[in-house]
Amino acid sequence: MGEIALRVEGLEKSFGEKNVHKGVSFELRKGEVLGLFGGSGSGKSVILRSIIGLEKPDAGKILFEGQDLATLSERKLMEVRKKIAYVFQNGALFDSLTVEENLSYPLQEHTKLSNAQIHSKVNAMLELIDMKGSNLLLPAELSGGMQKRAGLARAIILGPEVILFDEPTAGLDPMNTQRLLDNVKKLKERGMTGIFVTHDIPAAVQISERIAILNQGKIHVIDTVQNLQNSSDPLVKSFLGAESHANKG
Ligand SMILES: Nc1ncnc2c1ncn2[C@@H]1O[C@H](COP(=O)(O)OP(=O)(O)OP(=O)(O)O)[C@@H](O)[C@H]1O
Ligand SMILES: [Mg+2]
Repeated sequence: MGEIALRVEGLEKSFGEKNVHKGVSFELRKGEVLGLFGGSGSGKSVILRSIIGLEKPDAGKILFEGQDLATLSERKLMEVRKKIAYVFQNGALFDSLTVEENLSYPLQEHTKLSNAQIHSKVNAMLELIDMKGSNLLLPAELSGGMQKRAGLARAIILGPEVILFDEPTAGLDPMNTQRLLDNVKKLKERGMTGIFVTHDIPAAVQISERIAILNQGKIHVIDTVQNLQNSSDPLVKSFLGAESHANKG
């Protein structure tokens, strides 16, 4: 069945009167991409934010490498954030820094690598995201697709164990969506583990081993893409319906 990278157990979270999570449980296996679907406002981002400690669950556990992230101190969370990367939707680059400076930043902060080593890591990363030679450009000089890929590169340059993607293809045209997915596929070939939150069902189907659907505060179902595509569950069909028609067509 594969080793478990991360286990979420019975997460509960309310904002005021609103019960967003009513007992969310799932496991992320090492080496898999887990697609996470759910309606707008269902609490997908709050799951990811809870995993990196930006939200505190009211109850439940988030087990990672023998620690419960739900109760970890801020200082220990800093360490965990080197191992669990969060890819922001807009890339979240520093506007006044070049691409090279943006990508170098985590390496300068968190490693003892020499400038030459950092430069060569940055170049390797730029090659991976199809942005070779863009070192000296400022974020404003990049297309939206490039900004997102650069944001991805910066998020993962420390070599995290787990990558959390929050709608990384939102707002991208089909060509740039595919480029980003191809980048993610390259990471998969290197054994990446990740959670991929998206409304883009075909994209998630392409790169996920399994898919989880969050509904009414709980994981309604979590299963392989193939099993879900053959499911007769109405909710599953409503999420995957469009995709399975597309496959047949
Ligand atoms: N910091 C916060 N304070 C108050 N309410 C919040 C906060 N963060 C999230 N919420 C609420 O929790 C619910 C879940 O939010 P979340 O952002 O996780 O949804 P989502 O599934 O990511 O939606 P989308 O697909 O639109 O991104 C929403 O109703 C949102 O308004
Ligand atoms: Mg969200």
